Amino acid sequence: MPASALMNVMIGAARKAGRSLARDFGEVEHLQVSLKGPANFVSAADTRAEEIIFAELSKARPGYGFLMEERGEVTGADTTHRWIVDPLDGTTNFLHGIPIFCISIALERDGELVAGLIYNPVSNDTYVAEKGKGAYLNDRRIRVAARSELAASVIGTGIPHSGRPGHDGFLKELRAVMSVSAGIRRTGSAALDLAWTAAGRLDGYWENALNAWDIAAGIVLMKEAGGYVTDTDGKDTMLKTGGIVAGNETIHLKLLKLLKAANATPPSAAASPKPAKAG
Ligand code: IPD
Ligand code: CA
Ligand code: CA
Repeated sequence: MPASALMNVMIGAARKAGRSLARDFGEVEHLQVSLKGPANFVSAADTRAEEIIFAELSKARPGYGFLMEERGEVTGADTTHRWIVDPLDGTTNFLHGIPIFCISIALERDGELVAGLIYNPVSNDTYVAEKGKGAYLNDRRIRVAARSELAASVIGTGIPHSGRPGHDGFLKELRAVMSVSAGIRRTGSAALDLAWTAAGRLDGYWENALNAWDIAAGIVLMKEAGGYVTDTDGKDTMLKTGGIVAGNETIHLKLLKLLKAANATPPSAAASPKPAKAG
């Protein structure tokens, strides 16, 4: 894709923040062995990356608003434009020295997502898409996979962990998808899950309880890669509901049906074991 002025701005901000994240990632491994652990360090790395992105985008497009994970909502003088940014998606991976994390930047114009960028500074993979211009990975056009059978499909997801809701519901969904698909993957980065689905590495992806900054850029990538992406009710309200289902037209529909049916069934004994009766 001939890089537009807008995309050059987004790439410039992501690469600069990416250099900071990559440097900090190099330190994390040393910190793994310290007693205190790297948690505080990682949160500082996250904040540093966000500061860089905020400064770069504000300089290039003064007045645009922001929705950022750390900073929250920043209303700009230009209320028609809003950046939606996750400066570090895949924090748990970063903290554990696993090189699967990224920066995610999207631009909303008049309430519609018009551009998305996802950048992994370790692999140096840059995924970009602009409305109507297709989706690209490092200048190569990408498209969603063509598989139509779940039995041959690898499906990505996110697993709720401690402090997150929806454990029983997720187990029902997992049971339904794992029993009919070729494999499930959990990368630890919702943004990369969407980028990988747009690039055809994953055939489909679903997750619940996400935030707008996890998925905004990935939604643009999916649509521009010829894919389908909705919330779990098949609606275009993912940024609000936080549920997301993605794939090519067929896999997306099959996943939607499967998840709906799974959620209509009572939890299985395996999903939520009952305590044994005393006596
Ligand atoms: C998380 C990642 C993860 C998803 C979580 C998100 P963070 O974002 O995208 O894959 O399962 O729900 O919160 O915390 O690493 O920015
Ligand atoms: Ca995130
Ligand atoms: Ca984050």
